[in-house]
Amino acid sequence: MELQVTDVAFGGKGVARTNGKAAFVPYVIDGETVSASITREHKKFLEAELESIVTASPHRVEPRCPYFGRCGGCVYQHIDYEHQLALKWRQVKETLRRIGGLKEPPMRPLIPSPIEYEYRNRITVHVRDGVVGFFRRESNKLLDIERCPIALNEVNAQLAELREGRPRDGHYTLRAGVGSRVFTQANDAVAAAMLDLVDRLLGPATGTLIDTYCGAGFFSKRLRGRFGKVIGIDWDQHAIAVAREDANENEVYVAADVEAELGPRLRSIGPPSDEGNRAVIVDPPATGLNKTIVETLMEHQPTQLIYVSCNPATLARDLAVLKKSFGIDSITPLDMFPQTAEIECVAHLK
Ligand SMILES: C[S@@+](CC[C@H](N)C(=O)[O-])C[C@H]1O[C@@H](n2cnc3c(N)ncnc32)[C@H](O)[C@@H]1O
Repeated sequence: MELQVTDVAFGGKGVARTNGKAAFVPYVIDGETVSASITREHKKFLEAELESIVTASPHRVEPRCPYFGRCGGCVYQHIDYEHQLALKWRQVKETLRRIGGLKEPPMRPLIPSPIEYEYRNRITVHVRDGVVGFFRRESNKLLDIERCPIALNEVNAQLAELREGRPRDGHYTLRAGVGSRVFTQANDAVAAAMLDLVDRLLGPATGTLIDTYCGAGFFSKRLRGRFGKVIGIDWDQHAIAVAREDANENEVYVAADVEAELGPRLRSIGPPSDEGNRAVIVDPPATGLNKTIVETLMEHQPTQLIYVSCNPATLARDLAVLKKSFGIDSITPLDMFPQTAEIECVAHLK
């Protein structure tokens, strides 16, 4: 059937309406008319696959990767970069409205990636029965990958080397630069922009900073110079060991579950005082914050809260609760992962 695509939803699928139901079609662009076939019918929506483009969007471009459409990684290579950014910004806003109940989310302009391809400083590939690659789209089968155009050349050189060595079944994380087993941000230029942003948002804060889900201290290391004390919490012992290696006297790194550690730490530093305010950074995995952590933050009310999120849906869910105790000052999306559906956000609460 012919469908008019009106939007592209978070996750990358185009949205159209037919027979009173929403239909979701991958690899299309808002404004396009496409011919698609329905592949699954659910109670409230339909899933469809693109057959052909009837009227193309002016934003349509040629994907650069031969695996695009089959690989589970990228979903936007057929859309020019400017429009990818516009879509992601809108997706964040809509998610905050729909799930977060924020009527007018205080959105700031999206921070783009200066590099649209060849930006990833690490990839994880899987090996099974001689196939070395990524998972296929919506499948647990592997697609053999010789080169990933969103990864840095150095990472692709490692992939070539791995392939030549006929590796055993398993997962392999390939990284540019010195190898490390701990979490690191995947796009160096956007990671640097994110640090600048968080630094700017915190303004002249001076008291105690609690950096939760701190990893190897990505945020703490940048901010330690202007806080009297910095406490980093992460349950990854290796990351905490790396963070401790070059710690100054005012930095403490604790290997613990944030859920157990945050309350006691906030309690021990007491209420905001003349010596300065209290800032908390949370940078949780895609699942967001659990109820206990949200409650702890609401009970202890740090002066400033920076919520770094890699999932707008869980960010919106958590802000729906946090907004009862905090003012939401700004939300800034960042494009850490061009060509993919992923969106990073930094929310600033006071
Ligand atoms: C998105 S990474 C952020 C790391 C760091 N902020 C950075 O930018 O490099 C999430 C981190 O949360 C940690 N983590 C996940 N769940 C946790 C929990 N319940 N308690 C403590 N750390 C946790 C992981 O070990 C990981 O280092």
